[in-house]
Amino acid sequence: MNESVRQVFAGGVLPRLPLGVRALLTTFIVLIGCGYVIAFLNIQERHGMADGKPGLSLDDIRAVFGGYKKTAGAAASSRMLTMIRSEMRQYFSSDLDFAALESWLTTGAKQEAFDQGEGKRTPRKIIVRDCLRCHGQSTGTGIAKESPFGPDEFEVDYDKIALFAGSAPATGGERAAVPPQYTVPRLILFSHQHMLAIPIFTLLVGLAFSLIRFTPAWLKGLITPLPMLTLIFDFGGWWLARVSGLGAYFILAAGGVFGLAFGVQIVATVFDLWRPPGDQEKPR
Ligand code: HEC
Repeated sequence: MNESVRQVFAGGVLPRLPLGVRALLTTFIVLIGCGYVIAFLNIQERHGMADGKPGLSLDDIRAVFGGYKKTAGAAASSRMLTMIRSEMRQYFSSDLDFAALESWLTTGAKQEAFDQGEGKRTPRKIIVRDCLRCHGQSTGTGIAKESPFGPDEFEVDYDKIALFAGSAPATGGERAAVPPQYTVPRLILFSHQHMLAIPIFTLLVGLAFSLIRFTPAWLKGLITPLPMLTLIFDFGGWWLARVSGLGAYFILAAGGVFGLAFGVQIVATVFDLWRPPGDQEKPR
């Protein structure tokens, strides 16, 4: 590297940028940082209950991407519970319906209790009332083909519900396998959305970070590509989890390392943008 270039680098590249560019970069990086935190909250909200217990854990990751073994009789945690607490919540005709179905699902989604409840508020009637207009096979909606709850708008098939309620009869003895919440088509959709978007801002933040003053140099060299590298394990883990228990650990570890390294990049870059350039190298 030529001496004057080296001096500029030593004194800081980012703080020498025009004020407008620094404001642009800072705003971009701060927005991405906030977006990352919100994305994390979204994951918590959508998948935190996947294993039937609140809070994000390794079991949630297993439930979403890999499926998992459930001890027969254990509290059902299910795709249906996750969905009624998120996207399907809006379709309940009342809070009482929601509470009744939720309580049925959290207590094992038992067949005996399917027709129990006060008056019209049994799990079966709630599903007829609130869900079959889309999930009844004869309605012909896309979701009815993919995830049907019964033959038409008036009849619920408990066995079909059981697949989503996590109470499908235990096959293979003591422990029943719960399939991954993400079907392959859903995973393809999810993968393409994430794989085309996340690397872009990871690259931009990483490039900005690569220009800051940061010692020791080896640590900077390590942190610069780290978030991007972890993405391989994260995305790979989603698919690996379907066939191996290792996948869930990949996802968890990659998520943790990404968060840490990306957080350091964001804070250090914003700090460097507004730290005055090095004294001795100030342009004369
Ligand atoms: C207005 C139409 C509509 C209504 C009403 C509706 N759903 Fe859905 N449901 C959908 C759609 C569309 C999806 C797919 C959502 C997605 O892929 O993100 C879905 C997905 C689901 C899934 C996940 C299926 C899978 O294969 O992963 C479950 C479980 C579910 N709904 C339960 C319910 C329950 C319980 C009700 C009644 C309270 C209900 N839905 C009411 C349209 C509806």
